[in-house]
Amino acid sequence: MKSLIILLFLILNSLFFSGYTKGQDKKRDFSVEVDSVLRLMTLEEKVGQMIQYSNNRLNTGPAINTNNVTEEVRTGRVGSVFNVLSVEHTRQYQDLAMQSRLKIPLLFGLDVVHGMKTTFPIPLAEAASFDLALMEKAAEISAAETSAYGIHWSFAPMVDISRDARWGRVMEGAGEDPWYGSQVAKARVKGFQGDSYEDRKTIMACAKHFAAYGAVVAGKDYSEADISENTLHNIYLPPFKAAVDAGVATLMNGFNEINGIPATAHKGLQRELLKQEWGFDGFVVSDWGSVSEIATHGMAKDNKEAAKLAVLAGCDMDMESMSYERNLVDLVNEGQLDIRFINDAVKRILTKKFELGLFDDPYGYTYRSNEIDDENIVSSYRTVARDIAVKSIVLLKNQQEVLPINPNVQKIALVGPLNKSRKDMLGSWVAVGTEDGVISVYEGLRTALPDVEITYIEGYDLETNELKTLPETDHFDLVIVAVGERAQESGEAKSKVDINVHKNQQQLVKTLKEESTSPVVTLLMGGRPLVFSDMEPLSDAILMTWWLGTEAGNAIADVLTGKHNPSGKLPMTFPKYIGQCPIYYGHKNTGRPWQPDNRYVTGYMDETVLPAYPFGFGLSYTDFEIGKPKTDRETYEMGDTVQVTVDVKNTGTRLGTETVQLYLRDMVSSVTRPVLELCGIQQVALSCGEEKRITFTLTTNDLGFYAAENKFVVEPGQFKLFAGNSSDNLESSSFELID
Ligand code: GLC
Repeated sequence: MKSLIILLFLILNSLFFSGYTKGQDKKRDFSVEVDSVLRLMTLEEKVGQMIQYSNNRLNTGPAINTNNVTEEVRTGRVGSVFNVLSVEHTRQYQDLAMQSRLKIPLLFGLDVVHGMKTTFPIPLAEAASFDLALMEKAAEISAAETSAYGIHWSFAPMVDISRDARWGRVMEGAGEDPWYGSQVAKARVKGFQGDSYEDRKTIMACAKHFAAYGAVVAGKDYSEADISENTLHNIYLPPFKAAVDAGVATLMNGFNEINGIPATAHKGLQRELLKQEWGFDGFVVSDWGSVSEIATHGMAKDNKEAAKLAVLAGCDMDMESMSYERNLVDLVNEGQLDIRFINDAVKRILTKKFELGLFDDPYGYTYRSNEIDDENIVSSYRTVARDIAVKSIVLLKNQQEVLPINPNVQKIALVGPLNKSRKDMLGSWVAVGTEDGVISVYEGLRTALPDVEITYIEGYDLETNELKTLPETDHFDLVIVAVGERAQESGEAKSKVDINVHKNQQQLVKTLKEESTSPVVTLLMGGRPLVFSDMEPLSDAILMTWWLGTEAGNAIADVLTGKHNPSGKLPMTFPKYIGQCPIYYGHKNTGRPWQPDNRYVTGYMDETVLPAYPFGFGLSYTDFEIGKPKTDRETYEMGDTVQVTVDVKNTGTRLGTETVQLYLRDMVSSVTRPVLELCGIQQVALSCGEEKRITFTLTTNDLGFYAAENKFVVEPGQFKLFAGNSSDNLESSSFELID
């Protein structure tokens, strides 16, 4: 009876003092309520909150859970269920949770990586837009749609820095740069979570995979990350720190080990750095079976020891592996695990349930399902999806200004099955998005050019890549051919040794060029940087169109027709040869920096060390002139701000948007630093002849880095600043930082 009175008090209390105050950083303190619930809980109920199961109608990993999830939920032994895809189904599960003794509500999660029902461009494509506000907006819409399905939590953003295109999961992230990856992490967390969960249109985000999953050896998924502490702190951790500083509610650890310690069992990262040093007050969930995989890694003799190591390391919730469910009660009762570790994890989990208002109303996220098919709402989401898709397209080549399509063009050959595919436009990790309603390239172009004769030619078999007989093509004014990988060739468990565009597809481009007098425009599609050295010279123009989601066809047509002047920039270096991977602009100078025609320098004897297309590269239908970065002083002291101005001019023939990139180089430091580090971006739209002076403001803290013993330092000395529209096209200036 006493427990029910206390619980009633709690619910009444949180009704009148709901957790909602504007600004997630000013969120209400629920420690009183959480402690009161904790006092009511048995050890079994506490462990129950640390357990998450997939609703096994949609397995996003190898099926390992053999429990009866509904019975476990009804008896209060589950804290969260994920992969539930409808309001009705969440209500059914919540009904079961309300039958348990303490009626602690469930959390529902899902991988909403780039959209729930409205599918946005894959995250790597969105990152190519370099439009942080738009990426935040896309995450906000994803949250609004996800919450309308009764779901409280997305396992996104994936913030793993990735520099090896052989790794299939590069499609889920923001590319190779730590600074930019940090900005994107912040934007996506704020988009998902907003300032508050008050209107229940925002959801918890989850920065993943903590940490250094993108550093797996040779791009092999699930492999080990064997990197220096210095690289870990300067390259792979910053986006997680940015997510935590942005108030991210949860983190997910990973399958990989980092320097001999599986991420899920990594106490240094999860408990000491994340929770103690960074002050992270949310909770950490494992990745699928990663708790039990601690034993597979060889760091635990069995699941019981694995469960103990994971809890001690700071992994608060066990996804799918059943290791916590089967071992934690015994570990505590046998005196092998201090109950305080359980209490800490449970408090973290309960706090999020209070903040989401679930103790107010466990069904609070189930009242907006009417929005799911509301035409006006869906249409407004699609408008944003088209906008970010357009801005994600990167123009890699445009010889003789073949693009935009000349108004005199009357006959277009549209070649390749990817031009008709709707399903492939979605990419991986599509939540409830379906190909219904996706606009293919063929449909988009037809709508955009109603008076132009567009003839579709298959060219090759989408499944087998077998080439088809080509009809005569020399009577066309333009040939547009789509090549690349299938949507399901990137994502989890999709690492590849060969990231060349299929040789038959490259041969098709060659044949089209040789057999036709008309220009050939190549649409490159995929979830990662691809290698296409054979067909590159045969293409008059090349657009990287990634996987652009629901509005793909309209977005591609907008760029092909010039309705939108392409503004995308590469968030990842495109290698010229697979053998160059991993390849990235922010490399070290070495003692023998590469120079052409010099043998005894860093590089290869058989091929160039230079990429096909560098980080930050992307052409426009107009031209821009970017001047030298000018600092307001030549010398600065610690704590000063550095004002940097850069003049930008549109010297071309049409309105366009340029992403001006500011890079930094620390010329002499206590540990070596990259030859370039992105430290600022600004997008500026200019009409023909228009010129603007833009300003970047840096603090001396922006000049800092993690040095020996992982200590963050700002060291005096000479710095160089670079400004330009790509990491390989820069004007520079210098300044001095004095002690
Ligand atoms: C997968 C992925 C992870 C995802 C989780 C749940 O294995 O690694 O990113 O969030 O399982 O689907």
